[in-house]
Amino acid sequence: MKIIISIALLVILLPTISYAEDAHKHERHVKASGVEALSPNLRNLLSEEMKAIQEGMMSIIPAYISGNWREIETTAGKIKSSYILKQSLTESQRKELHSILPAEFIEKDQRFHYLAGMLEHAALSKKPELINFYFSEMNKSCIGCHAVFATHKFPALKPAKKDAHSH
Ligand code: HEC
Repeated sequence: MKIIISIALLVILLPTISYAEDAHKHERHVKASGVEALSPNLRNLLSEEMKAIQEGMMSIIPAYISGNWREIETTAGKIKSSYILKQSLTESQRKELHSILPAEFIEKDQRFHYLAGMLEHAALSKKPELINFYFSEMNKSCIGCHAVFATHKFPALKPAKKDAHSH
């Protein structure tokens, strides 16, 4: 009798358990990419900005291999100051960004801008080794942020699962 009750209980409870697990997974996903919670306007702005940054980064290679330091300086300067967190957002958009995106995002963004400023400076000083160094640091910074906040866009950057409890 006891066994039957246990089994019955198990059958009743099992769906609840797996549901709770799903809900938990969902919560983690949402938390990992807060950008998906941004309003469409702001999210478009972020997306446009990302594409512009990528174009800028790609233009640096031909400039670099031909010694066009001046162009690198200009491009790095644009990247440094163009990104949405530095652009003139409306006050409510700024509030939205800061309330939705976690501090870690803001920190990564600031680090990225610092590096763009350093690249600008290295180009101004006409120092190819330093230009290369900061260019590479910026690339690291792209995936450093994407791996945390943009895996919905770049699933290959998802950290390998080590969670023994997930089946
Ligand atoms: C501080 C965080 C952060 C940094 C740094 C960052 N990105 Fe992104 N990027 C994002 C997020 C978040 C998305 C996803 C946006 C979305 O889904 O709406 C994204 C999306 C993109 C996209 C896809 C845009 C689209 O909508 O098609 C490109 C391209 C991109 N990033 C390029 C870059 C490059 C190149 C760098 C470095 C030079 C970089 N990003 C640095 C956060 C970042």
